[in-house]
Amino acid sequence: MFGRVKPLDAILATAEKKSLHRSLGPVQLTLLGVGAIIGTGIFVLTAEAAQKAGPGMMWSFVIAGFVCAVAALCYSELASMVPVSGSAYTYTYAVMGEVLAWMVGWALILEYAVAASAVCVGWSGYFVGLLRDYVGITIPDAFANGPFAGGLLNLPALVIGLLVTWLLMIGTSESAKVNAALVAIKVAALSLFVFATAKYLNNGPNFTPFTPNGWGIIGVGGAAASIFFAYVGFDAVSTAAEETKNPQRNVPIGLIGSLAICTVFYLLVAGGAIGAIGAQPVTGPGGEVLAPGSVELANQCAALAKAGHEPLSCSKEALAHVLKEIGWTKLGGVIGLAAGMALPSVILMMLFGQTRIFFVMARDGLLPEKLATIHPKWKTPHIVTGITGVFVAVAAAFLPVGKLADISNSGTLFAFFMVAIAVLVLRKTEPNRKRPFRTPLIWITAPLAIIGTVSLYFLLPFDAKMVLPVWGVLGLAIYYGYSRSRSHVGRGLVEVHEADSDVPHSSVPPLPGVDVD
Ligand code: ALA
Repeated sequence: MFGRVKPLDAILATAEKKSLHRSLGPVQLTLLGVGAIIGTGIFVLTAEAAQKAGPGMMWSFVIAGFVCAVAALCYSELASMVPVSGSAYTYTYAVMGEVLAWMVGWALILEYAVAASAVCVGWSGYFVGLLRDYVGITIPDAFANGPFAGGLLNLPALVIGLLVTWLLMIGTSESAKVNAALVAIKVAALSLFVFATAKYLNNGPNFTPFTPNGWGIIGVGGAAASIFFAYVGFDAVSTAAEETKNPQRNVPIGLIGSLAICTVFYLLVAGGAIGAIGAQPVTGPGGEVLAPGSVELANQCAALAKAGHEPLSCSKEALAHVLKEIGWTKLGGVIGLAAGMALPSVILMMLFGQTRIFFVMARDGLLPEKLATIHPKWKTPHIVTGITGVFVAVAAAFLPVGKLADISNSGTLFAFFMVAIAVLVLRKTEPNRKRPFRTPLIWITAPLAIIGTVSLYFLLPFDAKMVLPVWGVLGLAIYYGYSRSRSHVGRGLVEVHEADSDVPHSSVPPLPGVDVD
């Protein structure tokens, strides 16, 4: 099972040919992380976390942030040792062999593609609000919600998914300037929110009871597993390790710095929202807890809305909603606008990451090489992008944001779990290999990452948990039915790719002044 290992030296030879400039410093790296992290999680899923944990969601943010921090430290060691495309998939290939690498790559599909769908749905909530408030157009409920939220299909989510796919197919990648501007917009929007709600932070009554549903799967723990989504994206920092000056010092600063900044923001935003309008979960007629993303919750929310009351858990544009409720209507609109502008770039990054993983797997012979065909004019892997994009958009049209985020989390947690194991294995098997960045206290950090990812996985809702094994079995069937016999490593072809030039450009848009070629 562990037989087919891709020789680390071959991978490193590829990396050496890339010869990226080491130009990123700690501040740029931190900004890169913040830009990749902030998205649907805080702008939309705060409502979902409130539904599960109530005010206790503040603990959920801390727990999820901590698991990400220890996983990030493990990620960085491998990223700095094996600085090539494919991230967790490539690391696993080098350390634990082809089967497990395939499984990780297969799980990463779940992570990136499904996350892209989740962000499409998150964007749709804000877009519908913007159209209503600024243009006076109300999209009928049937076309603004998928079937789980009482509608037919989420048309805006479908359209944005297809639009971003099309942009990627014709070769749009975000320019450094646009990316920097969007990061600034997101950070400014959250800062304004924190400013506007600061005076409610000590509004005690809204914080009690603090953990109405306890600490379990429908309480703080379950909310942590879901809100984990809000931190996904920090791997962008790890994958930039090769472009970083003094990675041993700067990569951990960038990782922990961006996670810390986001955690502080998230806590202030969550605290402000709770203090301002409360965050007690919406219960059914009999006082029962209603699951986020369920038809029952949608119906109960509709009934409350008719009565003129929309609790945090019911809102699809949580942050804008909070501000409107406390009288900052204009500012609420501005936050909505910021989310509407910035979230599509998160979809773009996720879809891009996805095509890149597919691309590397196809290049290794594990997926049909046709998938990775580059369009002669657009210079993009248009086939794989198009296929992925259609799936992403259709999933976004029919599934609720929380379910999609949970499914994405199950794949991400599996990938992080494998990375934490890989880093330990490599310390044992190749203790003397050069490690530009060493995970501090590895024998504590990596086990904590392993325990953390496993725990959060088991705290996911049942259906999201089940997707991973089902997806895994499907993946194994494809591996043994198709990929194994075609694998380049299996056939003895270990190639070194010239400057990785056949890989579509970095999924991480370069920062101003960063030369990535
Ligand atoms: N962390 C990203 C988001 O919340 C994926 O949208």
